[in-house]
Amino acid sequence: MKTLVIATFAASLAWLSSCSVSAAEAELVKQGEYLARAGDCVACHTAKGGKPFAGGLPMETPIGVIYSTNITPDKTGLGDYSFEDFDKAVRHGVAKNGSTLYPAMPYPSYARVSDSDMQALYAYFMKGVEPVPQENKDSDIPWPLSMRWPLAAWRWMFAPEVADYQAPANADPVISRGAYLVEGLGHCGACHTPRALTMQEKALSAADGNAFLSGSAPLEGWIAKSLRGDHKDALAVGARSNWCSSSRPGAVIAARCLAA
Ligand code: HEC
Ligand code: HEC
Repeated sequence: MKTLVIATFAASLAWLSSCSVSAAEAELVKQGEYLARAGDCVACHTAKGGKPFAGGLPMETPIGVIYSTNITPDKTGLGDYSFEDFDKAVRHGVAKNGSTLYPAMPYPSYARVSDSDMQALYAYFMKGVEPVPQENKDSDIPWPLSMRWPLAAWRWMFAPEVADYQAPANADPVISRGAYLVEGLGHCGACHTPRALTMQEKALSAADGNAFLSGSAPLEGWIAKSLRGDHKDALAVGARSNWCSSSRPGAVIAARCLAA
């Protein structure tokens, strides 16, 4: 009898601990879902009328059209990606096969995402997203422009070191949280910061200088205005709720509106 009691006790302990692991995992997946929204992954990784995250959205680059990739956990997507492979793509801009991604994937901003948020994002993409079998599309960029080594050189010159956002000393925690989201997952600067001739954003953070979020050059015909409080045509309060409701051309804008 005593052994039975002990065995039952041990078994229920094991059951309890397996439960708490899956509860913790479910929590992580939920956190990842929230972060994926903040990063607007769905906007670029979903084709018009397509399944969420299955890729295939055409995106203009200066040398031709590229297509976003399938990031669902199917084998045609991220199915066989380890956490390290996922991290290498999202924060470092390097695909699993070692080639450099086009910076249309805003990895220079995502470089600011923390390790723990990356773990949550990975959990969500592996466990919380429906797998969709859909092969990736090749870009329409003709050879030799389609060679990716210049992208590696670009990354080497312009992509920031991967490092979690560092708040200035004594910063208000609410402002720091906002800065972490704006500079990192929100990648607001990808559209709202002017770019140099070599296409890198002129500033990737508030600490980099006044060019940060000071407004873009026309982007598929639309201008992403200055979001800086110090600018004369900067941020009109309440404007954001309107800008998706009117019909605007361009895949990028459509993509953002889709997700809004
Ligand atoms: C502004 C558009 C955009 C956003 C937002 C975006 N991506 Fe991407 N992503 C792309 C494009 C375009 C590619 C393909 C680039 C290429 O082919 O070089 C890509 C590639 C990737 C890859 C590499 C896939 C592979 O085949 O190796 C991963 C992983 C990825 N994105 C994950 C994410 C996650 C996670 C998010 C949200 C946190 C996200 N992306 C947000 C545009 C975007
Ligand atoms: C994919 C590109 C893109 C990204 C990323 C982006 N925006 Fe924008 N945003 C735009 C464009 C383009 C407009 C202007 C649309 C128009 O002309 O009405 C705009 C407009 C706005 C406006 C309205 C400004 C005004 O005065 O009319 C606000 C506010 C705004 N964005 C905030 C943000 C924030 C905050 C982020 C990051 C969380 C962000 N945006 C990320 C492209 C982008």
